[in-house]
Amino acid sequence: PAIAKEAVISSKPIIIAHRGASGERPEHTLAAYQRAIDQGADFIEPDLVMTKDGQLVARHENDISGTTDVATRKEFADRKRKKRIDGVDYKGWFTEDFTLAELKTLRAKERLPLLRRGNSKFDGQYDVPTLREIITLAKEASAKTGRTIGIYPETKHPSYFASIGLPMEALLVAELKAAGWDRADAPVFIQSFEVNNLKALKQLTQVPLIQLMAAEGGPADKAQPSYEAMATPEGLKAIATYAAGIGPQKDMVVANDGTVTALVADAHAAGLKVHPWTFRAENYFLPSGLRRGINPAGHGDMAAEIARFLDAGVDGLFTDYPYLGVEARNRH
Ligand code: G3P
Ligand code: CA
Repeated sequence: PAIAKEAVISSKPIIIAHRGASGERPEHTLAAYQRAIDQGADFIEPDLVMTKDGQLVARHENDISGTTDVATRKEFADRKRKKRIDGVDYKGWFTEDFTLAELKTLRAKERLPLLRRGNSKFDGQYDVPTLREIITLAKEASAKTGRTIGIYPETKHPSYFASIGLPMEALLVAELKAAGWDRADAPVFIQSFEVNNLKALKQLTQVPLIQLMAAEGGPADKAQPSYEAMATPEGLKAIATYAAGIGPQKDMVVANDGTVTALVADAHAAGLKVHPWTFRAENYFLPSGLRRGINPAGHGDMAAEIARFLDAGVDGLFTDYPYLGVEARNRH
C-alpha cells in the first residue's frame, strides 16, 4: 500500500498548505484552500472540530472568537461560554454550541496580517467549511487540473469532543468512506497530537496516520509519552506500530542555529515519513513583499530555510505560503 500511495501522490517531498494558503487568505476557508491548489500544493490541511449536531468543520480551534465574526453577532451573544479544554481556560464561542446551519451564517476571518501579493483582490467563499465541502473541492480540483490534490486533516481536541458526546474518529472515517477515500492509497493523511486518537483511527481505517509532536510543552494527556520521548529512536519505533509518519515542529528537525538533528534519519530508520510544521510568517524575515520583522530574531529567509529542510531529507512540509514550498521543492 505504501508503494501504491507514493505512485499516487509524488515521490518528491509533498507541500501541505497549512490551513490553506493561509498567509494570503483567511485560514480554513474554501478561498484559502483554492488559493493553495492554484499554487500547486499537493495537500490542503483542514484542522477539524465538531458542531453541536455532529458535523466535522474546519477551524484551528473550537473557540471561534478569533476566526469568525461571531463576537459581533447579537443573536449569539448569549452563547459565550467559559470552558477548560485540555488544561487550558477559554472564554468565547465554541463550535460545539452551534449547529452547522448556525455556523454557516458566520463570516470567517484571519487573525494574522495577510500578504497582499499578485491577485490581492480577495475572492471566493469565507464561511466555515465542512470536511465534506473540502473533500469535494479537492476532488473537483484534481479532476480539473489533472494533478492529485489530497487532504491532510488534523483532529483537534478529539478526547475533549468524545467527553462531550461528539467522538470524531468514526465520523471522519465515514466521511472518507463516502468519498471513496477510506483507503491506504487515497491521497489522505490523518494527523493528531493525541496518541489514543491515532490508535483508535488505526482500528478503523487504512489511511496513513501522522503523529504530531511539538518542540516545547507536553501532550495534554499526561499518560501519553512526552514529545521528547517520542523523538528518540525507541519512541519512533513505537510510533511506527500505529503511524506512517511524524509531524514534528520544525525546530526538532533543523535547530535555530542551523544544526540538523538526528530526527529525520532516526524516523526514516523506523520506516516513518517526516512532515515538519510550520513555515509561516510569525517566525521569519520574509521574502520581498511579505510582512517583515514580525520576529527579527527568526530564521532568515523562508524559502532558503525550506531548502535547508529539503536538504535534510524531509518528506514534505507544512506552510502558509504553498507557492514558496512548491518553488523550493521544484528547484530542489
Ligand atoms: O498540523 C501541523 C501543524 O498545523 C500543527 O500546528 O497549531 O497549526 O495545527 P497547528
Ligand atoms: Ca494543524
